[in-house]
Amino acid sequence: MSSLQCLLYMSQATRAMSPAEIDRLLQGARERNRLRGITGALLYYDGRFVQVLEGEAAAVEQCFALIQTDPRHEQVTALHRGPIEAAGFPEWSMRYVSLDGPGDRAVAAFLDQLQRQPTPERVKQAITLLHRLASTATEPPAR
Ligand SMILES: Cc1cc2nc3c(=O)[nH]c(=O)nc-3n(C[C@H](O)[C@H](O)[C@H](O)COP(=O)(O)O)c2cc1C
Repeated sequence: MSSLQCLLYMSQATRAMSPAEIDRLLQGARERNRLRGITGALLYYDGRFVQVLEGEAAAVEQCFALIQTDPRHEQVTALHRGPIEAAGFPEWSMRYVSLDGPGDRAVAAFLDQLQRQPTPERVKQAITLLHRLASTATEPPAR
C-alpha cells in the first residue's frame, strides 16, 4: 500500500521575486514534481512562501530536503506533516496561487499567526485557503 503524505511549510523570500523568477521556479518545480509524483500548491504573498507538498512520504521528504537548501528563501519551517487519504491538488504538479496585492492585511496577519503558532486549526485553515485560491478557474500570472 502506498502512503500519501502532506507537508505544509512556510518560508521567507531572501529578496523580492519577480514574475519571471517565479515562473522559472515553477517550471523547474513542476518538471521534477511530475517525475516524483508530487502535487501541491505554492502561495507567494508579501515576500513569503506557503507551500503544500503531497505525495509518497519519501518523495515529499526528498523534495522538501532540496527546497530547504534553496538560497531563494530562508527560515524554511515545516508547520505540518500528516497522512492524507487523497491528494488535495491532484491535477497540479505545483499550482501557483497569489492574492490581489499587499493590501490584504487579514491574510498577512493570519500568516504571522500561522508561523508563530501553527495550531492544527490554523494549519487546516491555511490548506483550505490554498484550496480555495487554487479552485479559481485560471491561474494568476506570477507576481
Ligand atoms: C519557494 C520554493 C518552492 C519550491 N518548490 C519546489 C517543488 O515543489 N519541487 C521541486 O522539485 N523544487 C522546488 N523548488 C526548487 C528546489 O528548491 C531546488 O531548486 C530544486 O529541487 C532543484 O535542485 P537542484 O538545483 O539541486 O537540482 C522550490 C524552491 C523554492 C524557493
